[in-house]
Amino acid sequence: MSNPAQRANKLFVKTFGTLADALYAAPGRVNLIGEHTDYNDGFVLPAAINFHTIIAIKRREDNKFRAVSDAFPGEMKEWIFAEEGDTPESLEWVDYLKGFSAAMAVSGLAPKGLDLAIVSNVPLGAGLSSSAALEVAFGTAVNDASQIKLSPLAIAQLAQRGENQYVGCACGIMDQMISALGKQDHALLIDCLDLDSEAVSIPDNLSLIIINSNVKRGLVESEYNLRRQQCEQVAQHFHLDSLRHLELTTLDAAVNELSDVCYRRAKHVITENRRTQNAAWALESGNISQLSTLMAESHISMRDDFEITVPEIDFLVEIISKVIGEKGGVRMTGGGFGGCVVALVDHELTDAVVAAVENRYFEKTGIEAAIYLCSASDGAKRLDQ
Ligand code: GLA
Repeated sequence: MSNPAQRANKLFVKTFGTLADALYAAPGRVNLIGEHTDYNDGFVLPAAINFHTIIAIKRREDNKFRAVSDAFPGEMKEWIFAEEGDTPESLEWVDYLKGFSAAMAVSGLAPKGLDLAIVSNVPLGAGLSSSAALEVAFGTAVNDASQIKLSPLAIAQLAQRGENQYVGCACGIMDQMISALGKQDHALLIDCLDLDSEAVSIPDNLSLIIINSNVKRGLVESEYNLRRQQCEQVAQHFHLDSLRHLELTTLDAAVNELSDVCYRRAKHVITENRRTQNAAWALESGNISQLSTLMAESHISMRDDFEITVPEIDFLVEIISKVIGEKGGVRMTGGGFGGCVVALVDHELTDAVVAAVENRYFEKTGIEAAIYLCSASDGAKRLDQ
């Protein structure tokens, strides 16, 4: 099959009967560590991955948008800028684009309309941020086509606002930020309090492996929002803006004032922030055994304190950690309740990890896992035609 850029161009010509002016790409992401910390003003360490959403566009002279996606053949979606309507009851792919344009309208920005053809190879519903890739690819295209001169960070912020206020998902900034700002061969240590970010190089000897459990993710939205409320509740208890400002000793001293669940949620966030900063240093200095320990602790904290893993994911982590020992790290990645596991392992162990998953996962769960051998890639950009 042709590559996604060629497919986007072909879909554009087939749909609109003319050549596209330009192509834009935005990547999905994998988070190495720092889970459910972004909306608590904490630290995250994601990398953009070599799976992309590509959009072929042609500028229009009015303020109408027309979009097609190869994942939903035959559906042409249309809307007029600043007339996106209210949050829809049942979400569809175009709502992520409408959310972005609604956020632009609220910010007083007025782009020209576009005709768009979208293709993507970011796995859908796997926790690899296919929606952020779609929003950021669209935002990058609109920004460039109308010469609005938004920074990649501003595009990420509009994308998050669109999801929060239009799509109705209370997500943090991590996915959109890494899709906009990712750097080849690097992860990004993002401080979600001031949105400062620092590139952390991934050592050459490590393979970045993502294993999709293919567990159908259920309750993601409601459980995600519930976790967020529980974190906010603890911050309020201490009269703080967010858990970023809470020390573990203060939390521990107040253990009897909180429900056991709220205590454990906050403990995860506080300890995960520390682990994330330490993991960035470990990665930068090539201290793989420390990285291994931190990723293992992160997984246990997500499993026992934040309670966002499922048995199939725990099993994947168990079999992979047995193979890699201290020569790599493995943990669940993303929002949770299914989705993927990320492993950063010495190249020489890649085949053994793949073999262990192939030999044991299906046998135990009856589900076929998908394995993606990835590399960290750049954030959103215009492609050469
Ligand atoms: C989802 C959200 C992110 C982040 C992660 C969990 O991917 O979109 O903002 O909260 O879950 O770390």
